[in-house]
Amino acid sequence: MSRPIDALLQEQRRYPPPAEFAARANVDDPDVYRQADEDFEGFWARWAEELAWFRKWDRVLEWHPPDARWFVGGRLNASVNCVDRHLATPRKNKAAIIWEGEPGETRVVTYQELARQVNRFANVLKALGVRKGDRVTLYLPMIPELPIAMLACARIGAVHSVVFGGFSPTALAQRIADSGSRVLVTCDEYYRRGERIPQKRRADEAVQMAGGIDKVVVVRRTGANVPMTPGRDLWWDELMASADPHCPPEPMDSEDMLFMMYTSGTTGKPKGIVHTTGGYLVGVHATTKWVFDLKEEDTYWCSADIGWITGHSYIVYGPLSNGATTVMYEGSPDWPDKDRLWSMVERYAVNIFYTAPTAIRQFMQWGEAYPRRHDLSSLRLLGSVGEPINPEAWVWYHRVIGGERCPIVDTWWQTETGMILITPLPGITVTKPGSATRPFPGVKAAVLDEQGQPVPPGGGGYLAILRPWPAMLRTIWGDHQRYVDTYWSRWNRQTYYPGDGAKWDEDGYFWVLGRVDDVMNVAGHRLSTMEIESALVEHPAVAEAAVIGATHSIKGQVPVAFVILKSGWEPSEALERELKEKVAQVISPIARPDRVVFTPDLPKTRSGKIMRRLLRDIVHGSALGDVTTLRNPEVAEHLRQAFETAA
Ligand code: WTA
Repeated sequence: MSRPIDALLQEQRRYPPPAEFAARANVDDPDVYRQADEDFEGFWARWAEELAWFRKWDRVLEWHPPDARWFVGGRLNASVNCVDRHLATPRKNKAAIIWEGEPGETRVVTYQELARQVNRFANVLKALGVRKGDRVTLYLPMIPELPIAMLACARIGAVHSVVFGGFSPTALAQRIADSGSRVLVTCDEYYRRGERIPQKRRADEAVQMAGGIDKVVVVRRTGANVPMTPGRDLWWDELMASADPHCPPEPMDSEDMLFMMYTSGTTGKPKGIVHTTGGYLVGVHATTKWVFDLKEEDTYWCSADIGWITGHSYIVYGPLSNGATTVMYEGSPDWPDKDRLWSMVERYAVNIFYTAPTAIRQFMQWGEAYPRRHDLSSLRLLGSVGEPINPEAWVWYHRVIGGERCPIVDTWWQTETGMILITPLPGITVTKPGSATRPFPGVKAAVLDEQGQPVPPGGGGYLAILRPWPAMLRTIWGDHQRYVDTYWSRWNRQTYYPGDGAKWDEDGYFWVLGRVDDVMNVAGHRLSTMEIESALVEHPAVAEAAVIGATHSIKGQVPVAFVILKSGWEPSEALERELKEKVAQVISPIARPDRVVFTPDLPKTRSGKIMRRLLRDIVHGSALGDVTTLRNPEVAEHLRQAFETAA
């Protein structure tokens, strides 16, 4: 666990909702918790009434643990809910998406324009032979074509699998192959820190490796001259020009798949998390409206990448289903200078801003001068997601960005949960820096011990979710048993195991401490130690590798690798660089180890398992707990020395 429990217990600061905020809040009655608890199905059904359905559901929930079906018998379409149903309202010409490219150009896509683009691309996909249930991989940066392509898939019932644009060709290939996609959507290049990133070239490599792709649609972003394979590669703009802007929406069953999203688990193989249509949309619609207190006139900005679940739920589906104006930014927060985001907040008069603790710690390190250059007075609510937020960063965010007037919602959730599950309601909840506070109404959570007994307030244990929720994952693509084993087998089939350590306090507030499994959280990105280890052993010099997440002041955690070399290879700085590069290539630069420590041996238990706890102790300079269960106890001291000399 990445945070000391004692430090949190000392956090005494309390932030009640400002009176002015509370007076206008979308939800201002604390009794919602009791009401939702007494009849949670009724609670979710009332939210479902806010969406447009072709056919209403017969039953709200069928729960055969661990398999849930929500809004059974209902039929709806996500693109209708995010686009069409706003067209008959004054939202028709409202900005759905305000986009800014890194070099500074802007595009405003109204709901009406979004409708035309989505319909056109839906017809393009159909013409390429994509049918209901087919998977389509999207490998795009933060440009409007990404949400357009997602909604176009949703319109015809195709399943989108968005792969983060910064992933390597190998990572992309693995995800294409696992999903069985035949169509890939990518772009020529995009901008990042003033450089042009060769996305098409990387996509080509992946397509070659993965096999199975027969059409590649290429968005022109920079206008670069990229090689196009005849018969396979097609330009987005050419296809769109001749496409009909009317495409009837597919009436999807509530339980039909909407999308899949790969995430890291404890093994080397990423898991394709499956989300379905009705429950997911109800869950993200409700949480967007209440957690972010979204109002008709708001400009809302979630600075995540759509390549992660945060972007799916809280840039695309949640905000658009609510008819909001959502801001999208292509590039880096320090380009051309470290005030880029604040300049955008000022220029678009952003009201709600949602980002990750790692970004906040980075802003703190850059200093207050950057936000101070800009008028941030339009902001009225701030959000945080992706990892535990340390109280110092929380208080800084509140003071410097929020001007001490904006409530902060620290939202706990996961790719698997699809929607925010633990969070303040900003008009009601008294917040405590570092705590995600309470489960959203209708959600039931607890902190349990190994045996599944509730841990008393103040103690540490495992976070658990005790009741199904509408946006929950339904399965892991192609591996239902792994779904059962990973999430529903720790205690019993009815209790969801998220893999996070947590404590709760006397007020019933939750303090999430971090992952308790072999998953790391690097700058808000989820990475598995196993994935990085298998990338390292692909290098001819490496016999064995063990990776742990070391605490880092800005990124939260960074990977540190311990490597045993094959005979004939000698440790060197050049080799260290090469190994780091190898990981960046196989997975992504975000996974690049901070350090590579060469060692002749690794600490192993008698059953041959690497004792990662010991490696963590070494890296953090803590006392080396019990080593008596090791097969090779002498290696511990040796490693400590190797680590310290390498530093
Ligand atoms: C962590 C991101 C503490 C947690 C939405 C979880 C958090 C993992 C918080 C999921 C938070 C996310 N406080 N920890 N507010 N939000 N986490 O799937 O460890 O990329 O299990 O989803 O991030 O990461 P994922």
